[in-house]
Amino acid sequence: MSFNKQTIKDINLTGKTVLLRADYNVPLSSNGKITDDYRILQSIPTIKYLLSKNVKLIICSHLGRPKGPQDIKYSLKVVADELRKLLEPNKVSFVHDCIGTEVDNAAKDLKSGQILLLENLRFHKEEEENNSDFAKRLASLADIFVQDGFGVVHRAHASTDAITKFIPSVSGLLLEKEVDTITNVMESPIRPLAAIIGGAKIADKISLLNKFIEIADFVAIGGAMANTFLKASGIDIAHSVYDKDELSLARDIMDKAHEKSRRKAFSFFIPKDAVVAKKINSLSHTRIVDWSTHIVADIESYPKNPEAKDYKIDKEEQILDIGPFSAAFIVGTLQLTKTVVWNGTMGVTEIEGLHGPIGPFARGSEILVDGILGEFGNRPFSLVGGGDTVGYVENRNLVDSFDHVSTGGGASLELMAGRKLPGVEALLDKKEKARI
Ligand code: 3PG
Repeated sequence: MSFNKQTIKDINLTGKTVLLRADYNVPLSSNGKITDDYRILQSIPTIKYLLSKNVKLIICSHLGRPKGPQDIKYSLKVVADELRKLLEPNKVSFVHDCIGTEVDNAAKDLKSGQILLLENLRFHKEEEENNSDFAKRLASLADIFVQDGFGVVHRAHASTDAITKFIPSVSGLLLEKEVDTITNVMESPIRPLAAIIGGAKIADKISLLNKFIEIADFVAIGGAMANTFLKASGIDIAHSVYDKDELSLARDIMDKAHEKSRRKAFSFFIPKDAVVAKKINSLSHTRIVDWSTHIVADIESYPKNPEAKDYKIDKEEQILDIGPFSAAFIVGTLQLTKTVVWNGTMGVTEIEGLHGPIGPFARGSEILVDGILGEFGNRPFSLVGGGDTVGYVENRNLVDSFDHVSTGGGASLELMAGRKLPGVEALLDKKEKARI
């Protein structure tokens, strides 16, 4: 299915004032610096396209979940500075609110080819309340509204939903690309399709897991959520983090998966070995525990016989990454697949190593990255999503190596699960062209 909403390429923009909704909800360090500018970079093609049409461009966004304007650490000024670096510096100005006289005047003074970035929409509680009056005031700033904040279109807020009632509203290039790519993979994937899902909580990804059990040919689980599946399967995971409340959820998902594999060629994989340690830091003593296949334990102790402890996690240890057998099994399966969706790292990737960015619990994710990117021969089409996964591939400078790295966290999960996104639904349909 192709994107059925009007985009900026479908309409006449000449001489217009455009209000662009971006998702500049970027991570900030404790001293207020942007630590990952992926979302900003991904908004640039739409901005450049609009500027090429000589529009007067007003941009709005949210940042974080502020309680009000007193939460000044969530000011978008830092994003204005970043936009100045990425575009011509004297093109971008910033105004300290998103509605009001100062904003109206700044919008009136704007010249063709210039950009005005408004202050954080969420400094007004009306944004999240999907308030009509607030939306109307935003809409009054421009002739056309362009939605390009893919990361936020799963929310029905004033700048994603209500605003579209007051002004012709179309999609930007990023939103179109995200929706098109994700929908195509979910609705008509080139098979075999593999889904590699990690992350902490099963509950956050339950619809996604169920969906992939329905549509994928291979599903593998890693990250902390794998511990809950292991615990639910009766494996002694010792001190590992798991979610007590999700054990029955994990059992239901596994039952569903096993039921499918009885009917079809389908495989659901939970780790069979792991990297364990007593402490989560780059100096910790790590061990591989191979509780299921015994292959790694046998090789590690060869020519002696492995000891019982090689098959068992010590009571003070915890699982912090998938082990080499599991990584090799997943990557081996990827040699047979044509499409892979990856959401969630396989272990704790935030800890750096002593001599570089790859820490002691990131090997599983590293091997997976190599497997996805064709290091072992086959190179499937790759769709990567989820905050921690994107942060990880960004840190490793690998974003451009994948076919599609989504800017959306919740939005991509909702779309993959097959839910409608309010901020997309509200835009003009292709067939409504006559209205602009
Ligand atoms: C995100 O980062 O997922 C989006 O910007 C939405 O943010 P929210 O979860 O605070 O609504």
